[in-house]
Amino acid sequence: MEFSAVKALRCPHCGQGFSTPQAMDHSLACDSGHSFDIARQGYLNLLTGPGTKFVPDTAAMVAARDAFLNAGHYQPLSDALAKQVGQLLAGPDSQLIVDAGTGTGHYLHQVLAAFSLSARRPAAVGLDISKFALRRAARLNPDALNIVWDLWRELPLGTGTADVVLVIFAPRNASEFARILKPCGALVVVTPLPEHLAEIAAEVGMLGIQDDKESALVAAMEGHFRPVQTQEIETELQLSPADVENVALMGPAGHHLDPLVLRERLARLPERTAATAAFRISVFRLLPVGQVAD
Ligand SMILES: C[S@@+](CC[C@H](N)C(=O)[O-])C[C@H]1O[C@@H](n2cnc3c(N)ncnc32)[C@H](O)[C@@H]1O
Ligand SMILES: [Zn+2]
Repeated sequence: MEFSAVKALRCPHCGQGFSTPQAMDHSLACDSGHSFDIARQGYLNLLTGPGTKFVPDTAAMVAARDAFLNAGHYQPLSDALAKQVGQLLAGPDSQLIVDAGTGTGHYLHQVLAAFSLSARRPAAVGLDISKFALRRAARLNPDALNIVWDLWRELPLGTGTADVVLVIFAPRNASEFARILKPCGALVVVTPLPEHLAEIAAEVGMLGIQDDKESALVAAMEGHFRPVQTQEIETELQLSPADVENVALMGPAGHHLDPLVLRERLARLPERTAATAAFRISVFRLLPVGQVAD
């Protein structure tokens, strides 16, 4: 684990910063001496006590997400995100990306890879409540700080430390994202469009995306952020039964799907099933001081 993002961290107990640990350390201690474990797999656990009432994704759901994303089906989204973040981080200063709900770290990896030939590679923090996901994220993004955390709590990062907060299909804690961003920072949110995978959702028992959530998203950010840009990405997929199984298991339906029922449905599928993936990338900027909600 490389610790270039440690400067931005704040102790969840006392709010103090952390001193940079040695490469082989198994824990990280704040300046007042509170100590937190660095797991063998490389992620840091700052969460003490229970998180919010939330059932984390299972190991099987995380494995399905990893397999599906690694097959490259959502590459156009990764490419668009990498380009977007590259433009947002065009400045010369050392910069920090926070990926809120980083999951397996797939998109953060692609975003960071776009900087691989540049001296401006930003530091990165990935936050997620699922240890199964973070094990993979720590392997994929060893130079990011991958942290077990509950996004509905006060984030363990200093005020005005982040240049970009990424939220890709993950919970959106607007007031905390606003607090940790620098005044010139940007929030980048990815949401699915109503037609996303609509062709297969009913067939394999996935939860459908009811309606376009853009107005709800803008309303949820109100008081902290103003929308400045949106981009829609649509891509035609040709999915094997194994791909369909992974995409069904990796989402929220993965908690409820009966494996036998799913297997029966998959057995009826042709060799390739056509489906449309459709996403929106929304970029927000902080409201000027004075227009911020209390
Ligand atoms: C749909 S997945 C998206 C993961 C990743 N951004 C991606 O697109 O591959 C949602 C992620 O949010 C995480 N998550 C859900 N609720 C959370 C919470 N309260 N705090 C932290 N992470 C949470 C889940 O563990 C999961 O990894
Ligand atoms: Zn402390």
